[in-house]
Amino acid sequence: MWSLAIVWISSLLVSTQAQGTASVWRGNDRSGRCQYSFTVASPTEASCPSVGSGPEMEALKSRLELLEVMVARLAGGEAPRAAAGTGLQEAYTQAIGEKAQLQREKDRLAQQVDELQQRVAELQKEAEKLRSRPCQQLPPPTVPQHDSSLRPGAGTALSHLVSRPGRTQGDTSSLRDPSWQYGSPGYQELKAEVAEVPAPRPEDTEDYTGCGELLFVGEPVTHRKADTIAGKYGVWMQDPEPVAPYGPGMVWRIDTIGSEVRQLFGYEDMEQLSRGFPTKVLLLPEAVESTGATMYRGSLYYQRRRSRTLIRYDLASESVAARRDLPHAGFHGQFPYSWGGYTDIDFAVDEEGLWVIYSTNKAKGAIVISQLDPHSLEVKRSWETNIRKTTVANAFMICGRLYTVASYTSPNTTVNYSFNTATSQSKAISVPFKNRHRYNSMIDYNPIQRKLFAWDNYHIVSYDVRLGKQQ
Ligand SMILES: *[C@@H]1O[C@H](CO)[C@@H](O)[C@H](O)[C@H]1NC(C)=O
Ligand SMILES: *[C@@H]1O[C@H](CO)[C@@H](O)[C@H](O)[C@H]1NC(C)=O
Repeated sequence: MWSLAIVWISSLLVSTQAQGTASVWRGNDRSGRCQYSFTVASPTEASCPSVGSGPEMEALKSRLELLEVMVARLAGGEAPRAAAGTGLQEAYTQAIGEKAQLQREKDRLAQQVDELQQRVAELQKEAEKLRSRPCQQLPPPTVPQHDSSLRPGAGTALSHLVSRPGRTQGDTSSLRDPSWQYGSPGYQELKAEVAEVPAPRPEDTEDYTGCGELLFVGEPVTHRKADTIAGKYGVWMQDPEPVAPYGPGMVWRIDTIGSEVRQLFGYEDMEQLSRGFPTKVLLLPEAVESTGATMYRGSLYYQRRRSRTLIRYDLASESVAARRDLPHAGFHGQFPYSWGGYTDIDFAVDEEGLWVIYSTNKAKGAIVISQLDPHSLEVKRSWETNIRKTTVANAFMICGRLYTVASYTSPNTTVNYSFNTATSQSKAISVPFKNRHRYNSMIDYNPIQRKLFAWDNYHIVSYDVRLGKQQ
């Protein structure tokens, strides 16, 4: 501050010495801005009082000397006027130099940004090219004894808790019916042409809430990422026909890693689920197998661990309300979905009620759909499809139709098969479906939300769906 004042004042002095000729000078003003002044001697303005002499100038000089003494004292040494001037000049030159260097640096960085942007554009083009090539489906990976994606270090501590996902031969052979042969020549492979689903016209689907064929699945929306290994696989649900004391907003969740999965978490609404604050934790009387559970009319429906026993757990009384074996159903790795995980028996709810998706030895591994009495768990009616359960990533029901997803790992896969229970007709379709997190372990339809609920590699996600009008 002081030095600025000195510059300002000394500039004033310099200018007064240059009297008689036109001159220009510059110096910083008090706020540090550069100030330019012009002095032009004018013969006609003799009335203008000269500042070069007289008492004002003397006063100014003495005040300046005073200031200099103060500055010197503050700086802790003698600071002659000239030295201060050159010091500032040097600082100024240095600042100018630094500014130029910063400008050069800025230019260089801008160029780098340009280059990177160009590179990104090239990579995007490359990615597009790769995507547009025909997709070669990799065989489902053989899942190692212990899931390799478990975090290192957690493995030993958790290994006794973690059920082994995937079909390991030694694990399931004892439970497998010996008469069952995997490559049975009598098996009927589906050889249908892919029927392109016409793009829906907006007026066809807008606000349409009736039943129909699946036309479109939206982008996955993440509601919560599980924060522990226990949440790698799981199932989340919302009762489409809730019963008191639970309201329609209630969301339920089961983390299904572990050999004794018995905890059912309840969240007041989606927001609480997203924030990870359960309002209810129920301990189920029997352990849950895998991710096939569903919620319907105030009950949790699930498969009891290592059995074909279906359980209806009543939420209001917090007790088992019904239990029944699902006749001939394969379980514990006999007919899982392609990702394994003992997903042999999968409940589903749609506009037409409660279903269970599974397979039997009699069906030779083809998906069997049974409609269940929600009260007693009795099978009302069954359909045998012509698609092998172990080849599909997952399956769900919408409006009495079964749909299967081709891959659980590919970020860009399709729902490529449907089976209509009304006509017992199957059909190849191609509705794009995204496994954004590349390990989708659960997909269920919710008929009230009209969304697919899924659990994709720690991520609790949902997808909007669009249905076509019934012809
Ligand atoms: C993958 O998804 C993108 C974006 O939705 C799409 O443009 C592309 O056609 C898809 N690729 C394949 C092979 O389905
Ligand atoms: C669906 O996709 C899977 C994987 O690409 C394929 O193996 C299967 O044959 C397809 N099914 C139909 C019905 O097109």
